Amino acid sequence: MTSITRRTVLSGGAALAGAVMSPPFVPGAVGKETPRSGKVVVRLAVNGYPRELALDPRTTVLDALREHLLLTGTKKGCDQGQCGACTVHINGERVLSCLTLAVAAEGARVDTIEGLSTPGGRLNPMQQAFIEQDAFQCGFCTPGQIMSAVACVREGHAESDADIREYMSGNLCRCGAYPKIVAAIKQARPKLDKV
Ligand code: FES
Ligand code: FES
Repeated sequence: MTSITRRTVLSGGAALAGAVMSPPFVPGAVGKETPRSGKVVVRLAVNGYPRELALDPRTTVLDALREHLLLTGTKKGCDQGQCGACTVHINGERVLSCLTLAVAAEGARVDTIEGLSTPGGRLNPMQQAFIEQDAFQCGFCTPGQIMSAVACVREGHAESDADIREYMSGNLCRCGAYPKIVAAIKQARPKLDKV
């Protein structure tokens, strides 16, 4: 049986501190990995930046984003295609990145929550509306909700409350922020058409 000692606790704490103190993701700073045996090279255009990754062929887009590109805005909820927390856009369409293999997205454009605001930091109208409508509590589902909401409007599936509920039904919120999410989508809808 493994025993927990003060040393293991301290070394674990140091590792955590190192992770917390890691520099934030800087666009353009990550993106090229050296191919190794058993890996496949996958090229993606992530938020407008070309990336070339050497990945285990079983790597999902979600893990490629979070583990290899350090884009942790996209959340891993269930990792089984049931919660929508991992929603990103691939070639302009919303997909569940936990169910999409990175190799299957070879050459694709991948847009994540990090790329939704302008390079100058101006929020997308949907992000702004979520803030103004107070459309989240813990926020864990929020990046996926926002990516789905943007797609929902672009698909023309946000014309009524019923439509919004139907086409956002793949994005679960354990905090139950649904009424405010609907309000945020309605607020952003007219502005989003112009983006
Ligand atoms: Fe992908 Fe839940 S993490 S659907
Ligand atoms: Fe907490 Fe949606 S805001 S899960």
